[in-house]
Amino acid sequence: MDRIRIAGGRPLNGTIPISGAKNATLPLMIASLLTPDRLILDNVPRLADVIQLQRILGNHGVDVMVAGKRPGDTAYQGQTLEISAAHVIDTTAPYELVSKMRASFWVIGPLLARMGEAKVSMPGGCAIGTRPVDLLIKALEGLGARIDIDGGYVVARAPKGLTGGHVVFPKVTVGGTHTALMAATLARGTTIIDNAAREPEITDVADCLIKMGAKITGAGTSRIVVEGVARLSGARHSVLPDRIETGTYAMAVAMTGGDVLLEGARPELLQSALDVLVEAGAEITATNEGIRIVRNGAGIAPVTVTTAPFPGFPTDLQAQLMALMTRAKGTSQITETIFENRFMHVQELARLGARIHLDGEKATIEGVERLKGAPVMATDLRASVSLVIAALAAEGDTMVNRVYHLDRGFERLEDKLSACGADISRISG
Ligand code: UD1
Repeated sequence: MDRIRIAGGRPLNGTIPISGAKNATLPLMIASLLTPDRLILDNVPRLADVIQLQRILGNHGVDVMVAGKRPGDTAYQGQTLEISAAHVIDTTAPYELVSKMRASFWVIGPLLARMGEAKVSMPGGCAIGTRPVDLLIKALEGLGARIDIDGGYVVARAPKGLTGGHVVFPKVTVGGTHTALMAATLARGTTIIDNAAREPEITDVADCLIKMGAKITGAGTSRIVVEGVARLSGARHSVLPDRIETGTYAMAVAMTGGDVLLEGARPELLQSALDVLVEAGAEITATNEGIRIVRNGAGIAPVTVTTAPFPGFPTDLQAQLMALMTRAKGTSQITETIFENRFMHVQELARLGARIHLDGEKATIEGVERLKGAPVMATDLRASVSLVIAALAAEGDTMVNRVYHLDRGFERLEDKLSACGADISRISG
């Protein structure tokens, strides 16, 4: 199993290219199930989760072709996937595949909408909490599906097709919104989705669906209206930049000090996080090429932050912010409101010398003068990258074990950081 070794204490200076967003790529790939025609996705990041979803789609009979290099391509350029679901030969998504990646449950929406049936394994819990799918199921029932739970599988049927309906989410859910949106594109009549998630990845998927012929208004607001159509066609779409990767590297620079251009990043995708970084003492400038982040001299100021659905501070940056605040000059408070158990990084940060006190959903972080390198273990995607951020500022060597979590969501992390002066390397095996 690969490990990452980091010797802390170096500032970051240079340019970090931002990849396409993992959380848009996955639902965009799943949207290919809605059409027999070819969907071409550009700017797809090279991530373990993308490869895993290729396997899952392959099991349904979908062909995924990765286009080869073109003249002038750089190593960091995203890849192009050509996806064809001309013949869906299997509407079952088995436990062995779904349990490896929760988002693969979302195939249920398009399969049901196009094929009239889907049998998808319940994903089960994961490191950050129970993460149920009840709201996704209710949304599909709202569109006329009959749902049974059988042997750990959600069996969904709509032999005469789905019908438009009014879906009101009692709680904002990204996966629920993706599922309702995709299913509604092929339903008969109009669907209204209320209290929809407003995350930029929802808007990106809606933009792609519109190119495929879907009739959608209001994506990016809390009410999305979908006029069902009989058939969707192929399209070409470029994945938007990853706001979580952007925020993660911005926090790394705030931690180490230095001057980095986050190339291709778009500030409007993570304004709340950028505001927090400014409060913490970083200088942020939007440029034509991306976002420039500078922190020189003065230390990190403490902040009080609560995670919330977009446009609030994202839960996917909570662990990284906590790592940054371990070295603030004073006491910070971070409240996690989205996932009940998303503090797995706290114990590992403590191994580096962080002082964090947990009380239910609230973490109090007392900034310390110095962190010291130690062996640590990654427990989930965002937690593992928070350990990297802490290690970049720790004295001596840190060894981050179980790096496969990082590879699920961060493309060439060690290359991107070492190009900016970090002392970081991967140890294979
Ligand atoms: C997506 C993101 C994940 C991010 C999360 C919140 C992807 C691939 N993943 O996950 O990175 O952390 O949004 O921004 O895009 N809930 C229910 N019942 C349901 C569904 C959700 O109670 O049926 C709850 C969840 O437990 C959680 C909250 O709703 O407390 C939000 O979860 P949701 O937005 O659905 O997260 P995901 O879509 O799984």
